[in-house]
Amino acid sequence: MRKREWPARTFVSPSSVSKNAPMSASPTDSLFLRACRGEATSRPPLWMMRQAGRYLPEYRRIREKVSFLELCKTPSLAAEVTLQPIRRFGFDAAILFSDLLVPLEAMGLSVEFTEQGPRLPTAIRTPDDLARIHSFDPAQRTDFVLETIRLAREGLGSTPLIGFAGAPFTVATYAIEGKTAKNFTETKKFFYRYPQAARQLLSMIGGATEAYLKSQVAAGVAAVQLFDSWVGVVSTDDWNDFVFEPTAALIAALRTTGVPVIYFGNGATTILDRVAALGADVYGIDWRLPLDEARARLATTARYPFAVQGNLDPAVLLGPIPLIERRAADVVARGGCRGHVFNLGHGITPETPIESVEALVRVVQQG
Ligand code: CP3
Repeated sequence: MRKREWPARTFVSPSSVSKNAPMSASPTDSLFLRACRGEATSRPPLWMMRQAGRYLPEYRRIREKVSFLELCKTPSLAAEVTLQPIRRFGFDAAILFSDLLVPLEAMGLSVEFTEQGPRLPTAIRTPDDLARIHSFDPAQRTDFVLETIRLAREGLGSTPLIGFAGAPFTVATYAIEGKTAKNFTETKKFFYRYPQAARQLLSMIGGATEAYLKSQVAAGVAAVQLFDSWVGVVSTDDWNDFVFEPTAALIAALRTTGVPVIYFGNGATTILDRVAALGADVYGIDWRLPLDEARARLATTARYPFAVQGNLDPAVLLGPIPLIERRAADVVARGGCRGHVFNLGHGITPETPIESVEALVRVVQQG
């Protein structure tokens, strides 16, 4: 990797770090934040996308009593669920329990969770439909998220809490398709027929997401992750024409807060040279490419030093323990111990056995 200067910036630690914890145990000195800053660590810190969820029996017990959206909107329960995987496995970071569609609802689109997944009945299909969405004040419309962050921070002590939102493209696919799409035809049709309205939609989502994530930082998250879960479906032309600019602008705005910005572009392994121009602090890598190769590709265009996060195939956790141990050790070796946050290459699947996660934790945390 070519040597580059860090731009001058300070990483702020959330102000109300567990009051009893010694200074050295503040989230700022945590393995996770050190790895995000590109520093060397004795081992990679570990957390898993979707670590708070249905593979956990204690999560399923809570879900027997409340709906998914109710859970997201009840701070005491959402904070409890945020803490569950930390208590059970001792992961090195927690992620806020919420959903990517929460800010879209706050922007004015109603959201329902059905057996078949999310549904947005008033999806945006024409430029006139843009009138249905608006920016929002997070303290008013998503106060439950900010309260969840405060409560979770109290329970976490020195374990850092990651805030998140969807990246503009992925959120736009939900606004346009009204559900998790299979081939994203409606999204692309909207982009090609109404390019100006498409850019306006992405920019409105980007602006609302900036305010939303800045409010999460003010409430105490130590890093933010942008999930670009469906960006793998765009061509390089669409990336250049629609996706790059609003995403890079959002990342630049978020970096002014001083907390590391993680960009996870699922399926973006074919365009990592373009992804690196986004200017994030950390790039989440899916399982499709070994981490050392991903790092080398990112380095060709990155503007400053960066860290990588990933990238064990979540499906490996459905295999036998010796396979999990071998594959996890390979990710540790390829990711190295400088600027590497261990994660899965996408979210953990609900059918994952607890023993598989325990094996993963042993390999990554004990070597
Ligand atoms: O990572 C975590 O543990 C934090 C929680 C989290 C959830 N959703 C909880 C959730 C996070 C970070 C998300 C983000 C999210 N939501 C994404 C991006 C992440 C990714 O996997 O790429 C997306 C695409 C969504 C939208 C969404 N939410 C879908 C498509 C679904 C239904 C599909 C499914 O997996 O069931 C959800 C529901 C959802 N979000 C659940 C959880 C735990 C399951 C709800 C339940 O308990 O029934």
